[in-house]
Amino acid sequence: MRYVVTGAAGFIGSHLSAALTAQGHEVVGVDAFTDYYDVALKEANAKGLDVRRVDLAEDDLDLDGVDGVFHLAGQPGVRSFGDVFDVYVRQNLVASRRVFERAARGGVRIVFASSSSVYGDAERYPTPEDAQPQPISPYGITKLGCEELAYAYAKGFGLDVVTLRYFTVYGPRQRPDMALTRIVDALARGAPFELYGDGSQSRAFTYVADAVEATIGAMERAPAGVIYNVGGGVEATMREAIEALERIAGRSLELVERPAAKGDVRRTAADTSRIERDLDWRATTSLEDGLNAQWEWAATRVAAS
Ligand code: UGA
Repeated sequence: MRYVVTGAAGFIGSHLSAALTAQGHEVVGVDAFTDYYDVALKEANAKGLDVRRVDLAEDDLDLDGVDGVFHLAGQPGVRSFGDVFDVYVRQNLVASRRVFERAARGGVRIVFASSSSVYGDAERYPTPEDAQPQPISPYGITKLGCEELAYAYAKGFGLDVVTLRYFTVYGPRQRPDMALTRIVDALARGAPFELYGDGSQSRAFTYVADAVEATIGAMERAPAGVIYNVGGGVEATMREAIEALERIAGRSLELVERPAAKGDVRRTAADTSRIERDLDWRATTSLEDGLNAQWEWAATRVAAS
């Protein structure tokens, strides 16, 4: 198959592109290489992949001869209050609407990367896809807006779209603004880590290879119009994740306590029965194994720097 991956130089997008290529598919990556974090990291992620510089909010997306689009490009991060909202609107709402319109016109399937942050402090746990979305971050609001745009394009123009709500994906190459990358870096460098809140907040951490497998399964086998939670099977508090990484690293982390961040949810827990039933997918990587892989990656990187 010939696939387009948007956000191919990002954390999940680069793993997805590599996995698709390894399965024998032809992958055209596109990425705007925005400076939300160090562009050199994105260039390193993109090494060995065919990634073209495209700004989806302005440039045309060429979908001639393309069998499917994995739309992972976007402005990420839940700590998104303030004037930076304009950037979230542009990179998420404006860009995604253009991608949906182009795909609808070409009759090309889209797998769209949404986020557990659409649930906010969720109505119930573990959270099923039909829980009332109530995002508490501007970022989550734009992701929910993208889901609604996809729905509108499906209704109005027959867009074939599958939406995935990823739950705190982690592993090698995780974004540098995310907690686990900051923790492994701090452990490897002997630097302090700033903990927002008391550490009792919890996440359904999802290992990147599991997320990639769900994403490819969604393109290949999901019915049109469906929304799936993509969540790791286990939930851990930040304190538990820190303790596990301290054990793996064999050293203790210097913690600096900071107030809880606005936009952060207290808890995420995914009800994954829908994707288990439809795609026979469940996360198989234990938190211990996933954190080990992330620690190895960080330790090697820091040793080389
Ligand atoms: C993550 C991603 O950043 C979002 O882009 C994604 O949409 C979302 O997962 C998702 O589930 O869809 P989050 O779960 O908040 O958001 O992941 P982290 O940024 O790694 O934060 C996890 C916890 O660690 C939060 O409570 C946060 O406040 C805390 N944290 C983060 C710190 O204590 N210190 C830091 O330096 C960074």
